[in-house]
Amino acid sequence: MTRFKPGDAVCGVTGFGAFAEEIVVDADKLFALPAGVPFDVAGAFILAYGTSHHALKDRGALQAGETLVVLGAAGGVGLAAVEIGKVLGARVIACASNDGKLALCRAHGADETINYSTEDIKDRIRELTGGKGADVVYDPVGGAYAEMALRSMAWRGRYLVVGFANGEIPRIPLNLPLLKGCSLVGVFWGSLAKHEPRAAAAGVQELFGWLTAGKLRPEISARYALAEGPAALRAMLDRRVTGKVVVLPEA
Ligand SMILES: NC(=O)c1ccc[n+]([C@@H]2O[C@H](COP(=O)([O-])OP(=O)(O)OC[C@H]3O[C@@H](n4cnc5c(N)ncnc54)[C@H](OP(=O)(O)O)[C@@H]3O)[C@@H](O)[C@H]2O)c1
Repeated sequence: MTRFKPGDAVCGVTGFGAFAEEIVVDADKLFALPAGVPFDVAGAFILAYGTSHHALKDRGALQAGETLVVLGAAGGVGLAAVEIGKVLGARVIACASNDGKLALCRAHGADETINYSTEDIKDRIRELTGGKGADVVYDPVGGAYAEMALRSMAWRGRYLVVGFANGEIPRIPLNLPLLKGCSLVGVFWGSLAKHEPRAAAAGVQELFGWLTAGKLRPEISARYALAEGPAALRAMLDRRVTGKVVVLPEA
């Protein structure tokens, strides 16, 4: 018994194996696409926005009026966090490694920006928040930025551990959460779908509602043919990608 019939438009998260013309996916890992949402947008949307929605709304309990700091903000999950932060009514500070990436973040709604190649994250966050610090930090990057951002947390802040694009898993001095009275919160959207499939599906439904209402604008910065899949991955590794790139079987 399945919720789907031949010809339905669906998207899903497979983990591995999606660089292919055809793939078999468990029906419970699929979501029905709303009318009018193209497949390339769905491909760029589901994992990035699903992760950031779970992170900010569910794990971070981000409230309207709070300050959200997003590291790696011009990347796939980062740009999704910038947009969802704005939908949830937060003031969003986007952090990235060059001014072109920061301009993109502003175009997607960021209120303030920090270039962490040239500016001290901790000092700038304190400056931009009048000394209070960040209520929520969204970190998909890791490495040296993590401790600096944690040192800028507000009282009762939530530090969201999303990923380690930098390649280095930070080792955090545990006196910091104590001194700040803040929480370190793990985020793993793939596991949410496994442990709480209804919660994951409800999150995706809310996201599709925001997408079709025009509140979210997934950024597809490049499209690659299937045979060019390795070049797409190379661009990500080289830190050249903004938003999402998609690999198209039919291109
Ligand atoms: N927890 C979850 O459920 C979940 C779900 C999806 C993804 N993730 C993880 O989140 C991370 C980001 O995913 P993404 O799709 O947003 O990736 P992405 O589009 O490549 O973005 C990653 C960002 O990290 C920054 N970065 C810093 N050092 C880097 C380096 N050495 N190499 C590459 N990027 C570097 C880059 O921004 P700057 O150049 O501006 O620093 C880049 O924009 C990954 O580690 C991924 O595995 C976690």
